[in-house]
Amino acid sequence: MFQLTEDQVDLAEAVAGFCRETLAPTVEADDEHQVFRPELFRAMGEQGFLGVPTPEEHGGLGLGYFEYCVVLEEIAKVSASYAVTVAVNGLPQVILGQFGTEEQKAEWLPKLAAGEALGAFALSEPESGSDAGAMKTTAERRGDTYVLNGTKFWITHGGVADIYICMARTGGPGPKGVSAFILPGDATGLSFGKKENKMGLRASPTVELVLDDVVIPAANRIGEEGFGFNVAMAALDSGRITIAASGVGLSQAALDYAGVYATERKQFKKPIIDFQGVSFMLADMACKIESSRLLVHKAAWLRDQGLPYANIAAMAKCVATDTAMSVTTDAVQVLGGYGYTKEHPVERYMRDAKVMQIVEGTNQIQRLVIGRHLKRGWMR
Ligand code: CAA
Repeated sequence: MFQLTEDQVDLAEAVAGFCRETLAPTVEADDEHQVFRPELFRAMGEQGFLGVPTPEEHGGLGLGYFEYCVVLEEIAKVSASYAVTVAVNGLPQVILGQFGTEEQKAEWLPKLAAGEALGAFALSEPESGSDAGAMKTTAERRGDTYVLNGTKFWITHGGVADIYICMARTGGPGPKGVSAFILPGDATGLSFGKKENKMGLRASPTVELVLDDVVIPAANRIGEEGFGFNVAMAALDSGRITIAASGVGLSQAALDYAGVYATERKQFKKPIIDFQGVSFMLADMACKIESSRLLVHKAAWLRDQGLPYANIAAMAKCVATDTAMSVTTDAVQVLGGYGYTKEHPVERYMRDAKVMQIVEGTNQIQRLVIGRHLKRGWMR
């Protein structure tokens, strides 16, 4: 766990090479203009990066979450937006793999793993973000169908996804009234509202979904009625590890950039890295990144062993993305005035880091999850 195997190093190098050649050339322009490129998503699918932990029988690489984190860290070093694309496209795979019927798996997993279909996850609503169980979107059973009505907000890949795992209310209030559904991107009655003009992750589209009498087959329900909240929470336990791994990659990119800069930039006749004020800052950044990576690897390892991991996943998400915020902010500081301009990528890293403290559950929600686990352990 402390040392990558030869195969994992080879995988990391292959991903890094691909990202340098394929993602890097357009990363700045796409950030500027908020462009998502489906062809890059498909190219990642051809490389196998989209289905790392999905079983081979369903078109994935059949590796572990550990390897998935290694892949995400490398992608995030070049583009946090595409790391989040891979992570979010992974959520439907996790959900269908864990809770889907054989038909649902056969229909969607190979396409999602190959990049032939883009996946998304629709939980949040305008009035229910952290309190996801208070959602208002309804799914009314009519014969062999469900009719969905409501609005989903902050949906990554909204408008471009081929499949959304959509949570909607089939029963009474609260989490127990929620069910999970496969919502095809081309369903009649599904339309797309505002595309957010975001501070960061600008190559990753975030769009409102409007569901107006959307009719889907009852066979699209995932699990039993009333089990949808558990489905969403279980998926987020896994998703939080992937956001954490992306946070580590982003932090590492920021540190490496700031470190190289500090060895080249001279003030008072010497490289600024030779000032203790700067080298201690870089050392603190490195300590935080290394601790975050270990926590991410532990969460992934626990998951791969089939051991409970929700608590450590929340810790990893919290620590790694708080680290990303602090390290990218310090990277800007090391570059001084230059860091604050678009001449260098550190300002993008800082903007991208901010949202990582928010997506897949705010870091306040992660602390709530951790606090509840602690309380359960201490209760007599
Ligand atoms: N796994 C499986 N089931 C779980 C679970 C988990 N990790 N956590 C809770 N549940 C189950 C509970 O067991 C309970 O079911 P039972 O009563 O049958 O036991 C049910 O879910 C309700 O649980 P809680 O009482 O704990 O629910 P709550 O209302 O108190 O909410 C919460 C808990 C942790 C605050 C949850 O609402 C939450 O995680 N909120 C944050 C939402 C979130 O992360 N949103 C991210 C949006 S998606 C995104 O960002 C992706 C993207 O596009 C980038």
